[in-house]
Amino acid sequence: MALHLGDIAPDFHAETTMGPINFHQWLGNSWGVLFSHPADFTPVCTSEFMTFASMQDEFKALNCELVGLSVDGLFSHIAWLRTIKEKIEYKNMKDVEVKFPLIEDITMEVAKKYGMIQPGESSTKAVRAVFVIDPKGVIRTIIYYPLSLGRNFDELYRVVIALQTADAFSVATPADWRPGDDVIVPPAGSCGTAKDRMAGKEDMKCHDWFFCTKKIDKEKVLSTILKK
Ligand code: BEZ
Repeated sequence: MALHLGDIAPDFHAETTMGPINFHQWLGNSWGVLFSHPADFTPVCTSEFMTFASMQDEFKALNCELVGLSVDGLFSHIAWLRTIKEKIEYKNMKDVEVKFPLIEDITMEVAKKYGMIQPGESSTKAVRAVFVIDPKGVIRTIIYYPLSLGRNFDELYRVVIALQTADAFSVATPADWRPGDDVIVPPAGSCGTAKDRMAGKEDMKCHDWFFCTKKIDKEKVLSTILKK
């Protein structure tokens, strides 16, 4: 059965480049990004790993763990990550050490559990799937990319910050939101005290009765989120 937003991320045991993990126990009280790639020693995946690894401290600061997966074996993973560190220079990135675990999934057990094998793309490789999981183990965002399309890791970072901001301030975030931009109050679906809002009685700007925004300073967003 397909996984949906709001589901508890399925638990699993796996071997990784950083030792065995029990997924739920490993996540603990952290946010997590579980992402799959089609194959080691391929160019798009290499560019993705270098990019994600170069941002790992930024995700750590958000209390967000990263964990990769492909259906390759452990020795392939280790050799590929060593090649990346020792040999590959790409877009001002070099000597890049991947400090997050990479799951070996030769049996495709985890990939199938998470719907990462999508035969329209490939029945032997995982698509580029991304699962953002909150500290309660709930799947909050799912994104799938095809084999040919490298992910935008700034967007994944934005997704984690936006989810954390929505939780911390009970707001929603509009299109292309970044910390410091206005947020939407209340979250879509509730009309609240529409009259007061339209009359400008609250600390917000209403574009119409159903569309109100307010400012939260970037510093306030970051200090709240980075503290957690
Ligand atoms: C790549 O990462 O370059 C790639 C992997 C599998 C299929 C196509 C491209």
